[in-house]
Amino acid sequence: MQFNRKTVQAVVTGIVFAAASSLASAATILKLSHNQDQKHPVHLSMKYMAEKVKEYTNGEVRVRIYPNSQLGTQRESMELLQSGALDIAKTNASELESFEPAYGAFNIPYIFHDSDHFYRALTGKVGDDILNASAGKGFIGLTYYDGGSRNFYAQKPIKSPADLVGMKIRVQPSPTAVEMIKLMGGSPTPLAYGELYTALQQGVVDGAENNPTALTNSRHGEVAKFYSLDEHTMIPDVLVIGEKSWSKLTPEQQVAVKKAAKESMLYHKELWAKMINEAVDQAKSSMGVTFVDVEKQPFIDAVKPMHDAALKNPEIAEYVKEIDALAN
Ligand code: GCU
Repeated sequence: MQFNRKTVQAVVTGIVFAAASSLASAATILKLSHNQDQKHPVHLSMKYMAEKVKEYTNGEVRVRIYPNSQLGTQRESMELLQSGALDIAKTNASELESFEPAYGAFNIPYIFHDSDHFYRALTGKVGDDILNASAGKGFIGLTYYDGGSRNFYAQKPIKSPADLVGMKIRVQPSPTAVEMIKLMGGSPTPLAYGELYTALQQGVVDGAENNPTALTNSRHGEVAKFYSLDEHTMIPDVLVIGEKSWSKLTPEQQVAVKKAAKESMLYHKELWAKMINEAVDQAKSSMGVTFVDVEKQPFIDAVKPMHDAALKNPEIAEYVKEIDALAN
C-alpha cells in the first residue's frame, strides 16, 4: 500500500482530532444549579470552587454553573439531584429541612449569638455531621456559604412582633420558618424565591425576610422600602451533591471536590463580609431603603418555645446541644 503525503496528513490529523475529543469527553461535567444572579457573592464563591475543582483534578472534573433558577427552583433542583438528572445544587438549610431534618437545627431563630458562633458550628464537628446526615437519602452536603442574618422587609417598619399581626410574610418552604412567623404573630406564606418579587409587587404578600442581597441582587428593594434589623436567623446556604453523581467520581476526585468546596467556604467568608456592606450601601443610597433599628428582645421572647422544643426533638436535639455548647 502506498501512502502519499496528503493521506499521511489526513490520518495524523484524524488521530490528533480523535485524541483531543476523547480527552475532552473524558472530563466529568458536574452541573450545578442555583437561584441567585451572577453578581451574587455566592455565585462568585462557587466559580472559585469550580476553578479549584478543575485545578485539583487536572481537568478531569469540571463544574458547570447554571444561575438564576435556569434549571428550576431550589425544591425542583433537589428532586433532580436525587434522581441523578442534576449533580450539584446550592440551596440552603431552610429548604433542606424537608429533605433532611438535621438541617432544621440551623433554622431555629436566635440559635447563633454572632457570626463567630455561626462559623464555629459550620467549621466544627456538628457542621460536618449535619452535611453527612443525609447519606443514603440521595444527596450529601459538601460545604456551607454564609448568608448573613435574615431580617424583615416590607412597605412599613417592623419594630415589634405586634407589627406583624395581620401581615402575610413570605417564608421559605420550611416548617421552622412557618412556625417562627406564627409565633411572632404574622401569617406565613411559603413561596419559591423566584416568585417573590412579583408577590411583593402585587401585594400577594406584605413582606418577606432575608439578607440585604435580596434587596439589591434580587431587586426587592424596589418594592419594599423598610428593612428592620431584628436578625432572627442566620441560615447558611448549603452546597449538596447527589449520591449518584458522587459515586461516579473516583476516591481521589471526591477528595479534590471536598477540598475545593471547603476552601470556597473560606473564600466566601471574606467576600461576603465585603459585599454585604456594599449591598447595604446600595440599598440605602440607590434604592432608598430605610434600615430600621429594632429592639430584639420581644422577638427573642416570642420564639423561645422553638428552642425549648428543639432540645426535646430526637431528630435534632443533639445538634442543637452541640451548637449551644459552641456559644461563648
Ligand atoms: C437566600 C438564599 C437562597 C434562598 C433565599 C430564600 O437568599 O441564598 O438560597 O433561596 O434566601 O429566601 O429563598
